[in-house]
Amino acid sequence: MYRSRIRSTGSYLPEKKLTNQDIEKMVDTTAEWIYERTGIKERRIAAPNEVTSDFCVEAAKLALQRANMTPHDIDMIIVATVTGDHVMPSTACMVQAKLGCRPIFAFDLSAACTGFVYSLSIADQFIKTGFYKNILVIGAEVLSRIVNYKDRNTCILFGDGAGCAIITRAEEHEDSQIFSSHLYADGLLGHLLELPAGGSKLPISQEVLEQELQYINMKGKEIFKNAVRTLVECAETALKTNNIPLEQVDWLVPHQANMRITEAVIKHFGIPTEKVVSTIDYTGNTSGASIPIALDHAITDGRIKRGQLILLSAFGAGLTSGSSLLRY
Ligand code: UT7
Repeated sequence: MYRSRIRSTGSYLPEKKLTNQDIEKMVDTTAEWIYERTGIKERRIAAPNEVTSDFCVEAAKLALQRANMTPHDIDMIIVATVTGDHVMPSTACMVQAKLGCRPIFAFDLSAACTGFVYSLSIADQFIKTGFYKNILVIGAEVLSRIVNYKDRNTCILFGDGAGCAIITRAEEHEDSQIFSSHLYADGLLGHLLELPAGGSKLPISQEVLEQELQYINMKGKEIFKNAVRTLVECAETALKTNNIPLEQVDWLVPHQANMRITEAVIKHFGIPTEKVVSTIDYTGNTSGASIPIALDHAITDGRIKRGQLILLSAFGAGLTSGSSLLRY
C-alpha cells in the first residue's frame, strides 16, 4: 500500500462582492442580524458569463503551478459540486477539456457541503492502491444560480467559489499523508436541505417556476442542530481511529456554514479559536468549495505549515457528513 498526501492547493473567488448591506435592500433583514446570526459580512457572486468549470480551472491552474506540474501529469479529476455546468456532461469532463489534460478518468461527486471530504477519500483510495499517482480534487459551486434572493432564510448564507488540492503519492521519506477519512449519509434527513425541482422527481415546468421550486429549500434550525452534532462526531471518529488526542491537532478546518455552528464545535472541544480556520466572514457558505478554499487560504497566508496535523470536518445536504485527518 502507498500513502497519499496533499501536494498543493489552489482556490478562486469571483470578483463581485454581495455585502450584507446589499442583501438589506433585497429582503426583510438587517446587515447586523446577518452578521450576528451567521458571522457573514459578504460573499462572492459569479459574473453572468462565469460557470462552475471556469472556477475549477482557475483554482486548478494555481495548484498545478504551485506543484510545478502540468495538466498532463494529472491522472484523475473529481469535482465535488451540486451546481455543475450541466447535469450532463459532468463538470469534471469540462475541466479535463479546458485544462488540456489527457483523456483521463473524470467525474462529478454529489455530496453537497461534504463533497470535498468525500472526494479526498476517493482520491486517497486510488493512490493507496497504486492505481494513480496524481489526482486533482476540486470543490466548486455557483450557488447564486440556485438561491432564491427573495428567501431571507437562505439568501443571506450562500456564496460562490472553488478550491482544490492535488493529491499525490507520498515518497518513502515524506511524512505528509492522509491518515484516514470517515464518511456518512443519513437520507432520512434529506428533506431538511434540498433543491426540490430540476431532477427526475420534479422536472422544471411552468408550475415549478411559479412556485419557485428550482431554488434551495432549507429548514435552518434543524440543519443547525444536526450540523453541530455531526461535525463533532466526525471529528471525534477521526481522532479516535488514529489514536491522536485533540491537543496534537494544529488546525481544525470545518465546513464554513455559519460562525455560530463553528463556535458550538469550538465550545464542545474546548479548543482555542486560533486553531480553527474560518473564512465565513468573507466567503459565506460555499458548500463543496468551503473546506478547500479555507485550506488553501490558510496555507497560502502561512498559517498552515508543512508537517502540521490538520483535521477536516464537514456536513451537508443528504444529510452527508465526514472527516479527514492528515499531515500537511
Ligand atoms: O451547509 C449547510 C447549509 N445550511 C446551514 O448550515 C444552515 C444552518 N442554519 C443556520 O445557519 C441558521 O438556522 C439561520 C442563519 C438560517 C437562521 O438563524 P437562526 O438563529 O436559526 O434563526 P431562526 O430560524 O431561529 O429565526 C429566528 C427569527 C425568526 O423570527 P421569529 O419567528 O422568532 O419572529 C425568523 O423569522 O429570525 C427571523 N429571521 C430573520 N430575521 C431577519 C430568519 N431569517 C432572518 C433574516 N433576517 N435573514
